[in-house]
Amino acid sequence: MEEGLLVRKIREGTVIDHIPAGRALDVLKILGLSGQEGITIAVVMNVPSKKLGRKDIVKVEAKFLEPKEVDEISLIAPTATINIVRDFKVIEKRRVQVPGEVVGLLKCPNPNCVTNSKREPVATRFKPVSLKPLKLKCYYCEETISEDQILGQLLKE
Ligand code: CTP
Ligand code: ZN
Repeated sequence: MEEGLLVRKIREGTVIDHIPAGRALDVLKILGLSGQEGITIAVVMNVPSKKLGRKDIVKVEAKFLEPKEVDEISLIAPTATINIVRDFKVIEKRRVQVPGEVVGLLKCPNPNCVTNSKREPVATRFKPVSLKPLKLKCYYCEETISEDQILGQLLKE
């Protein structure tokens, strides 16, 4: 629709659609894309959407996402849809979903948590206790992390 007038369709790659308005650059950050890679990228922000009112879209030519990247996007842009495009056609479309268990992506804020032990570090494991607003609980020490903390961790650097 509107967006089609702004940016053409891509031949091969990934379209991340229905991103909450204002989060497109955060999605690029998660994907580690700075624009210096030479890959064709389209970023569309604050376009009208039936479902969301306003939304952002990120199109990345010749890139297909890894499961870890999809999980990270689910944490910062829970309404996003991932469209895989081949030969100009959407061959796969799926809504991101917060994993039942978020493993190894986030740090537990509790300094005494076993996942922060210097001697025998264990991969972090969090389970969602709420989706809206997002809140996760550490499997080991029951400490919770808020949406803001999750965003802060995933987007730092
Ligand atoms: N798209 C693209 N290049 C293609 C095919 C699709 O950039 N070769 C983009 C579309 O512009 C749209 C998204 O990928 O932003 C999803 O495409 P499509 O499934 O055709 O659109 P809708 O049916 O509107 O999607 P939805 O139902 O998920 O809103
Ligand atoms: Zn913990």
